[in-house]
Amino acid sequence: MPMRTAGSDAGVLVVGAGVIGLAIAISLRRQGVAVTVFDPDPLGGSTWVAAGMLAPVTEAHYGEEALVALNLDAAARYPRFVAEIEEASGCAAGYRACGTLSVAFDPGDLEVLAGLHRFQSELGLESTPLGASECRQLEPMLSPAIRGGLWVEGDHQVDNRLLAQALLQASVNLGARIEEVAAVSVSPDPGHPEINLADGRVVGGDTVVLALGAWSSLLEGLPGGWSPPVRPVKGQILRLVGDPATPLLAHNLRGLVSGTSLYLVPRAEGRLVVGATVEERGFETSVTAGAVYELLRDAVSLVPGVKELVLEESSAGLRPGSPDNAPLIGPTGAPGVIAATGHYRNGILLAPTTAEAVADLVVRGRTDGPAAAFSPERFSGEPHGGRSGPAGVGGA
Ligand code: GLY
Repeated sequence: MPMRTAGSDAGVLVVGAGVIGLAIAISLRRQGVAVTVFDPDPLGGSTWVAAGMLAPVTEAHYGEEALVALNLDAAARYPRFVAEIEEASGCAAGYRACGTLSVAFDPGDLEVLAGLHRFQSELGLESTPLGASECRQLEPMLSPAIRGGLWVEGDHQVDNRLLAQALLQASVNLGARIEEVAAVSVSPDPGHPEINLADGRVVGGDTVVLALGAWSSLLEGLPGGWSPPVRPVKGQILRLVGDPATPLLAHNLRGLVSGTSLYLVPRAEGRLVVGATVEERGFETSVTAGAVYELLRDAVSLVPGVKELVLEESSAGLRPGSPDNAPLIGPTGAPGVIAATGHYRNGILLAPTTAEAVADLVVRGRTDGPAAAFSPERFSGEPHGGRSGPAGVGGA
């Protein structure tokens, strides 16, 4: 027989302790709402593997104009979000307002960047085309082969691992309970939903928040055969380190190398994050020699000094992809269950906007912010959409 935990003193039940779940827990605690977060391995998912780029302009994609607006809203919130988390946790979160340079390796890449600049300008986004020598003035270690680039003053980064640790500490300091156990299913109910835990307990609360990232479609118990249409999209990524006295880069660098895109994100102490592949391989997270080779090959094409760095870590994470690449934030068809998932390439960036929207939904029953346009209801006619995805492998 399952052990039933009496009452609803667990408050809001947040399932998933990644950047999204923890940011939500913090927003709720700031409004005086009791919160319990469930995760067998807090911070152990994609939050830890990510690169931490906060890049709404350089990552703007055709056809995703509404998502660009949401991303811009989140980027504008970031300095305050980080300051509040640092204050509540006593930990540095590693925010760097460093700007982003996108560069082109060959003439075809330069044409793509020119098209991207036109698209950015149409949307009123600020980006400045630079010639090859101007790129090298900004980043002297760039290869002489670089043809030109685009400078985006407003695209920054945060050290996702420092941020994650600060979020966890802030959650605890603000009174959220963290339970290191998996939730396996949910029993929806408008007033008193419950979750069933892997250790056999059943916990009731006021609301369930589904923040399981790429694993969101695996939570059982949602009614009508519906599950969030969220699928894992694998990303392989490298972490390197060199001499802290002579870091290779001062800004985020994005590159197009003969049609393949990658990013190099400089961290403190000579560290450099290089990513990432985009692969449709289900929940498989092996690191392959081919991906490491291609990431390093393209990184060296852009910045030859990468060859001198020490390869500290190679890892693979699972982005929570959705059918339109945008998140699912809001009520689900299941009474008492709110979704905060499907953030795909922008989970770190979208944490402040998502957290405020979910806190609004819990406390006021609605949100008027930009996240209101990203309700899961737009997929309500797609049963089990999250259990499958297109086959094949995307480019890096
Ligand atoms: N936003 C970076 C990535 O998805 O790889």
